Amino acid sequence: MINAYTVIGQPIAHSLSPLIHGLFGQLTQRRVRYTRTEATSETFEAIVRAWRENGGLGCNVTMPFKEQAHALCDRLGASAARAGSVNTLQFHRDGAIVGHNTDGAGLRVDIERNLAHPIGGARLLLLGAGGAARGVVGPLLDARPASLTIANRTVSRAQRIVQAFEHDPSADPVPLSACALDELPARVAGRGGFDLVINATSLSLSGELPALPEGLFADGALAYDMAYGPSDTVFMNWSRERGARVAGGFGMLVEQAAESFQIWEGVRPKTHKAWGRLQELLNAA
Ligand code: ATR
Repeated sequence: MINAYTVIGQPIAHSLSPLIHGLFGQLTQRRVRYTRTEATSETFEAIVRAWRENGGLGCNVTMPFKEQAHALCDRLGASAARAGSVNTLQFHRDGAIVGHNTDGAGLRVDIERNLAHPIGGARLLLLGAGGAARGVVGPLLDARPASLTIANRTVSRAQRIVQAFEHDPSADPVPLSACALDELPARVAGRGGFDLVINATSLSLSGELPALPEGLFADGALAYDMAYGPSDTVFMNWSRERGARVAGGFGMLVEQAAESFQIWEGVRPKTHKAWGRLQELLNAA
């Protein structure tokens, strides 16, 4: 028997998830089949339900359906309830559709373990306040940064995330604040740079850069772009020129996939054993 999974998105043709999960199946000696499925907002729910009826065990959900997936779940795991979005659907034997969000856990593993950059104690700046940003705030707070600032073009969206998390037990000792992108120069001038800057805006996808001030980075800072591709993003290049260490989001993609695989198959692939082959997949894509 082969355990069947799919990733649902729009567009989806270039998703690397089938290759990554195929490799995970080999690493863990599990018989899995993982495909891509294209949907529209009108067909999304019917596709999920048909996938379950046809014996699939789960799905990944990517842009732009993560909020819609959250809405259709019968139950939510703690990660999805906090994130407000779902990237992993698990079909339980009792028939329930259970939602999880592994993005934040994947980001945390990539930064802390793969890149060996501490989040605990870091002055942390999150750029952006859309679904991608909100999805990772909980796990970032669990790592106990010294502070978390969320900067967004539209400050009200950043304020809403702060309000959603300020009573979260994980935020207890962590000062949270929201600001507009154009307030960042004053923040940096007043308090010094950040130890970790994570770009969760959608700008890298169109080859753009948010307006960022000089002096953004403290000594030894890491600039992490949640976007990924075979070449470095504008944000990564801008940050490197200002002395920061840089990373793109491919590691996060791999680690969130490993977290999903663990939810479905009960075993977490040893991603470090496949790192060379995973990089080849990215370069060939
Ligand atoms: P996602 O699900 O990828 O987070 P989203 O919810 O549309 O997508 O959020 C996109 C993020 O990129 C937001 O933080 C958005 O800022 P606004 O909330 O002000 O729209 C940010 N973004 C997109 N285009 C931008 C631009 N030209 N300048 C600055 N920020 C931008």
